[in-house]
Amino acid sequence: MNNQGNPNLIHSRLPETEISKVFSNALNNYNRISSEDKAAIFYDLAFIERKIAGLKQIFPGATLHAVAIKANTLARVLEKMRAMGTGAEVASLPELFMAQEAGFAPGNIVFDSPCKTKAEIEYALKSGVYINADSFDELDRIAAIRETVKSESGIGLRINPQVGAGSINSTSVAGEFSKFGIPLNDNKERIISYFRNYEWLKGMHVHIGSQGCPVQLLVSGVGRVLDLALELNKLLENASKSNRVEVFDIGGGLPVLYHPGQETVSMEGYAAMLKEKCGELFTNRFRIFTEFGRYIHANAGWVASRVEYVKREKDYNIIMTHAGADLFLRKCYNPADWYHQISVVDKHGNAKTGTDKIKYTVAGPLCFAGDILARDIELPPVNEGDYLLIHDAGAYTLSMWSRYNSRQMPKVIGYYSGDDDFEVLKERERPEDLVEFWS
Ligand SMILES: Cc1ncc(COP(=O)(O)O)c(C=O)c1O
Repeated sequence: MNNQGNPNLIHSRLPETEISKVFSNALNNYNRISSEDKAAIFYDLAFIERKIAGLKQIFPGATLHAVAIKANTLARVLEKMRAMGTGAEVASLPELFMAQEAGFAPGNIVFDSPCKTKAEIEYALKSGVYINADSFDELDRIAAIRETVKSESGIGLRINPQVGAGSINSTSVAGEFSKFGIPLNDNKERIISYFRNYEWLKGMHVHIGSQGCPVQLLVSGVGRVLDLALELNKLLENASKSNRVEVFDIGGGLPVLYHPGQETVSMEGYAAMLKEKCGELFTNRFRIFTEFGRYIHANAGWVASRVEYVKREKDYNIIMTHAGADLFLRKCYNPADWYHQISVVDKHGNAKTGTDKIKYTVAGPLCFAGDILARDIELPPVNEGDYLLIHDAGAYTLSMWSRYNSRQMPKVIGYYSGDDDFEVLKERERPEDLVEFWS
C-alpha cells in the first residue's frame, strides 16, 4: 500500500487536473466506465491512507482514532482503515455490525447514538464495545443491563459543553439547545453524582459539530469538558472512589476545504491548539479517542456524472445529469450551506477548459424541483455525453444515499494516486436490486 505520502499534502484537495487524468485513465485505458455507468464514485485510497498516517503521527501513540463510519460506510474502506490500525465510531446497530464484520476489535469500536434501545445496549455490552451514553436515562439503562450480563465494555458520557453553534445549524450540536448529550450548564452536579454512583463510568465524550465549526469553537468545547473531567477526578479521588475519567473522547468535526483557494486549520494546527489550551489531555492521565470522519474522507472522493441532456433556453441552460439529491442530500436540501466544485470533461475524458464560459444550472434526475446541484455556475460549453466531475464528495454523500425514485446506486471505484490501477469497491446496483429492496 502506498502510505508514504508527504504529510504536508494531507490537507490539500485533489487537484482538478489529477481528477480528470484519473477519470480519463479509468474510461480509456481500463474500461472501468461502461455506458451503464451513468455516474461513478471514485476514492483516492492513498489520500485516505495519508490522512490516517498523519493523524497517528499528530496525536499520542495510545490515541484511538475511531473513524466516524457514517461519513463513509463502504465495507472495503472500513477493512482498509482497520488494517491501518484505526477504530470505528458507529451510530446504529447495523453500523456496529459493519464494524465487527470489517474486523475491528470490540475495544476499538465506539458506539454513539442518542437513541439506543435496551436490546442494542445489551448487545453492545455483551460484545465489549465502548459505549458513549447520551443521557442520564441511558446510563440508568446501562446500569440495569450490566447487572444481568458480563461485560468488558468501557462506558463514557456525552456532554454538551454549550459553547455555541457554528455557521451550519443543521450540523452544529454544541449550542444552548442540542438533541445530543447532557447540557453542562444546568447539570454539573448531577453529572458528578452519576460518576460517584456508577464506578464503571470512566469516560467523557464531546462533539461540537461537523463542518462549519471554527477550530476555536472545537477547542473551547473540549476545554470546557476537560475542566469538568479534571475537577471530577479530584472529587472522585477525595471520595475514595475507584473510577476516574480515563478516556477523553474529543469527537470529530475538523472542517475541511470545499472551495478552491480556501484555507483552513490543519490537523497539526488543531492538535497544537489543543495542546496549548488543553495540555492535560496530552499527559498520561487520559487516553484520547478521536472520531473524525469528514477530515478523512471528504476530499478523497469525487463523482463522475454523465450529462444526459442540455436544455438550452433563451434565459437559461440546464444540464440534466445523473447524480443529484440522491447522492448530495445536504447540498440539495440546504444549498446555501454546502458547495461542490464542478468541472467538465468530454465523452473521451479530455478536460474541457477555455475562457469562453456559459452559465448553467446543474440539475439531478429526481422528481422534485430542489434537485439542483448548482445554480448559474460558469462552465465551458457542455454537451450531451460529457461528464461532470463533482469534487470533494467523499463524506456524507454515498453514506446518505436516498432511495427516492429508486435510482441505482452508482459503482464505487478505488485507486491509489500514482499507481495505474483501479479496484471496484462496490458494484453498481442493478434495477433488480431496487425491485428486491422494495419487495
Ligand atoms: C458523535 C459524532 N462523532 C463524530 C462525527 C464525525 O464528524 P466529522 O465527520 O465532521 O469529523 C459525528 C458527525 O456528525 C458525530 O455525530
